[in-house]
Amino acid sequence: MSTVVLVGSQWGDEGKGKVTDFLAEKADVVVRYQGGTNAGHTLSVGDQVFKLHLIPSGILYPQKTCVIGNGVVIDPVALVNEMNELRERGIDLSNLHISDRAHLVMPYHRRLDELQEQERGDDKIGTTLRGIGPAYMDKVQRTGIRVIDLLDDDELKDKLTPIVMAKNRLLEKLYGAAPYSIDDLLDEYGQHAQTLRPYVTDTSVLVAEKISQGHKVLFEGAQGTMLDLDHGTYPYVTSSSPTGGGACIGGGIGPECIDAVVGVAKAYTTRVGDGPFTTELEGPIATRIREVGKEYGTTTGRPRRVGWLDAVVLRYAVRINGLRYLALTLLDVLTGLDTVKICTGYRCRGEEITHMPASLRALEACEPMYEEFPGWSEDLAQIEDFEDFPKEAKDYVARVCELAGVPIALVSVGPGRHQTKILQEIF
Ligand code: GDP
Ligand code: IMO
Ligand code: MG
Repeated sequence: MSTVVLVGSQWGDEGKGKVTDFLAEKADVVVRYQGGTNAGHTLSVGDQVFKLHLIPSGILYPQKTCVIGNGVVIDPVALVNEMNELRERGIDLSNLHISDRAHLVMPYHRRLDELQEQERGDDKIGTTLRGIGPAYMDKVQRTGIRVIDLLDDDELKDKLTPIVMAKNRLLEKLYGAAPYSIDDLLDEYGQHAQTLRPYVTDTSVLVAEKISQGHKVLFEGAQGTMLDLDHGTYPYVTSSSPTGGGACIGGGIGPECIDAVVGVAKAYTTRVGDGPFTTELEGPIATRIREVGKEYGTTTGRPRRVGWLDAVVLRYAVRINGLRYLALTLLDVLTGLDTVKICTGYRCRGEEITHMPASLRALEACEPMYEEFPGWSEDLAQIEDFEDFPKEAKDYVARVCELAGVPIALVSVGPGRHQTKILQEIF
C-alpha cells in the first residue's frame, strides 16, 4: 500500500503519534489533515519524549516530508513555539510544509472557547480551550483568516479589521470581556508571518506530486472517530472530521488516492472531556489502568476517564472509516489484571443493541454487556514475537479482531518506537 490514512478509533489518545512515528520509518510523506493544538501526540524514542500538537509525527526522521494540510486550524503562536522547541532539540524542520489554505486560530478564538465553556456551566463540553470550535466556526461562517492572508500585510489588515471589530462587539457586549487591539494583533501576527513564510506552500499540489511519483504517504488523523463532528457523540465532539473521509478534504486529495484506512485502538478505552462513555470504570481497576497507562492528557494534563474496550465503538469505527486494519495499542497496560472485559453490545431501555445510537439520551441509558477473559502476567515488552505472547493475551487480541470484524496489523506493547509487533505489513 502506498497511501494510508491512520485514524483514532475511539475518543482520541489511542497512540496515533506512536504508531505514526513507527510507520513513518517506511513512509516518505506524513500529512496532518485536521484538528489543531487540541491534539497531543506523544513520541517516545530512546530516552527522549516528544509531544507534538500541530507538526506531523514523521518529523523525527530528517528525510521525511511533513505536511500540515489545509484542514488543520493553525495557531501561529503555538506552531512557532513547537518549531522552536524541536529546533532546540536538534530536529531538522527543512522538510516541513504548511498549507496556504489552512485557517488560523487567533487569540479571540481561544478567549471565546473559554467564555463559551464557562457559559455552558454543567453542560460544558470539556474542550481543550485551544480555540478549536470558534476557529472552525469562523471557517464555516466564512469569516476565517487563512495562512495565505497572514503572508500579505495589506490583505491581513483588510480582513482582520472588520473581524476583530465584530469579535470585540461580541466580547464586550455579550461577555463583558476585554476587546483586542487590531494594531497589536497586526504587529504580532506580522512577525509570525515572517517566521512561517518559508514553509508555506500549496500542499495539495505537493501531496498530489508525491502520490503520482509513487511515494508512500501517511495521513495522520488527530482526535478520534467518536469525537468526529458528524459521527461522534454530538455535541460532545470536536469541530472537525477526524474520520477517514476527513483526510480527503483536509489533505486536499481525492478518495481514489487512498489505498487503506487503519484505525488505532487502545486495548481499553479512554476519554478526556465530558460526554457519554458506556464502559467507563471507577474504583481500583480504573485507578490502576490510569496509573500504569499514564492516562493524563498530553495537551491539558487532565486525568483521562478510563473503561473497558468497547466493541460497539470499534465496529462503528470500522464502518464509518472503512477500516482495513486495526493497530492495537497499550496492550501491556492490561498485564497483571486477574480478568479483562470487552463490551460486546449495549442493553438500552430493555432492548439489546449492537449499534451506536444517535440519541445522546439513548446512549446515556445504555448499559454495557461484557465478555470476561482471564488475564496474563508476563511482561509483553520482553517477548520478541507475538506468537510467543501468553495464550490469554493472544486470545484477547483474537477476540478483538473477531468482534471488530477486521484484522489487527500491529500490536503495541510500550510507548517506545520498537515496542511494536507487526502482524501484517502496512507499507
Ligand atoms: P495520540 O493522541 O493518539 O497520539 O495519543 P497520546 O500520545 O495522547 O497518548 C498515548 C499515550 O500512550 C502516550 O503517552 C504514548 O507514549 C503512550 N503509548 C503509546 N503506545 C503505547 C503502548 O503500547 N504502551 C504503553 N504503555 N504506552 C503507549
Ligand atoms: P489527540 O489527537 C482526546 C476532546 C476534548 C473535548 C472535545 C472537544 O491527542 O487524540 P476541542 O478542544 O477539540 O473543542 O474539545 O474533544 N479532544 C480530545 N480528546 N484527544 C485529543 O486529541 C483531543 N482533542 C480534543 O477533550 O472532549
Ligand atoms: Mg493525544
